[in-house]
Amino acid sequence: MKLRKIQDVEVEGKTVLVRVDYNVPLKDGNILDDRRIRASLPTIRWLLDHNAKVVLISHLGRPEGKVVEELRLDPIAGVLESLLGKPVSKLDDCVGDGVLKAVSEAKDADVLLLENVRFYRGEAINEPAFTHKLANLGNLFVNDAFASMHRAHASTVGIADHLPSYAGFLVQAEIEALSPLIESPDRPYVAAVGGKKAESKLGPLHDLGPQVDEIMIGGGVAMTFLHAMGIDVGGSAVDHKVLEEVGEIRRIAAQSETILHLPVDVVAAPELSDESETVTCSVNEIPDGWHAFDIGPETIRLFSERIVQAKTIVWIGPMGAYEIGAFANGTKQLGDVIAQSDAYSVIGGGETGEAMERFGVAERVSYISTGGGACLALLRGKTMSALEALLA
Ligand code: 3PG
Repeated sequence: MKLRKIQDVEVEGKTVLVRVDYNVPLKDGNILDDRRIRASLPTIRWLLDHNAKVVLISHLGRPEGKVVEELRLDPIAGVLESLLGKPVSKLDDCVGDGVLKAVSEAKDADVLLLENVRFYRGEAINEPAFTHKLANLGNLFVNDAFASMHRAHASTVGIADHLPSYAGFLVQAEIEALSPLIESPDRPYVAAVGGKKAESKLGPLHDLGPQVDEIMIGGGVAMTFLHAMGIDVGGSAVDHKVLEEVGEIRRIAAQSETILHLPVDVVAAPELSDESETVTCSVNEIPDGWHAFDIGPETIRLFSERIVQAKTIVWIGPMGAYEIGAFANGTKQLGDVIAQSDAYSVIGGGETGEAMERFGVAERVSYISTGGGACLALLRGKTMSALEALLA
């Protein structure tokens, strides 16, 4: 994949629109994980060093075309300012006369952050009039929002039709790190897939099935699988809408001789709390009304064995509710085994990356992607028009 790169263009004195992904977890206005902001710094710093005027564009959450006060980008501007060590002018809108004026009055090597681009309906539907207004703000477009590459929106795809467009350093790094998994992964190639929601992981499981040699399924996703296979999983959350799909994924896996591994034991509790009573039991012995919140020790042993023999590993979605101490063990142990392995290992999805940082093993895996959906889309071989717009 050959990209048009930011370092190949003259940016001095230009107004550069940079799409970043600052869709970060927030609680009471505080940013819980600033990794996506930090990941955007190399591109911003390079542009500032080359005397460009930097206009940052991002979404936050899913406001669906309306202004949602809690989803304004002001807290992000504060964090960005301290990371960059220079002022960031946060604007209260992303298009319109006020924005045009602020951008034209800014000087070279100034940084402006536009308001949440999803406050406009035109963003998600890539509406020509909205796209035109955004593109009108600058001379060049740099896409560095790898985590949004799977969205064909005005600020990811539309702008690229109007302005010369280039990949930022983060997009370049992501493509370089993920390419070995697409082109010719060393085998055995194993995938670990977890997370809360089965629905969001079924598509990926469909497409990854034929590409990898083994898949280990944990987290809430595993409960839906086990239920579909006729196992009583107590009160664990099961996504009934997708039960038929589970059969289809098992059929595809069998056809492509991909081995699916499911938990044999779990840590269950009546409620998701550190104070809750817990039991470690086999998957078919979860007490009535109790929920499986982590994989159990025998499953950890089985999954670890599969990881130890792998040459390529991709892990997306935690094995349990790792944010609560009583249910963190499965995710922590799997992270440790991956960190100790010599395999080429890629971690995708915000939660899994955050877990690796929390357990102090982030430095010891080959690559942690800033993307969840985008990382999966790339690994599954999906066409992403935002990426195609940057191809040389
Ligand atoms: C993500 O967090 O995966 C990206 O920011 C995309 O967000 P979205 O799923 O709301 O489009």
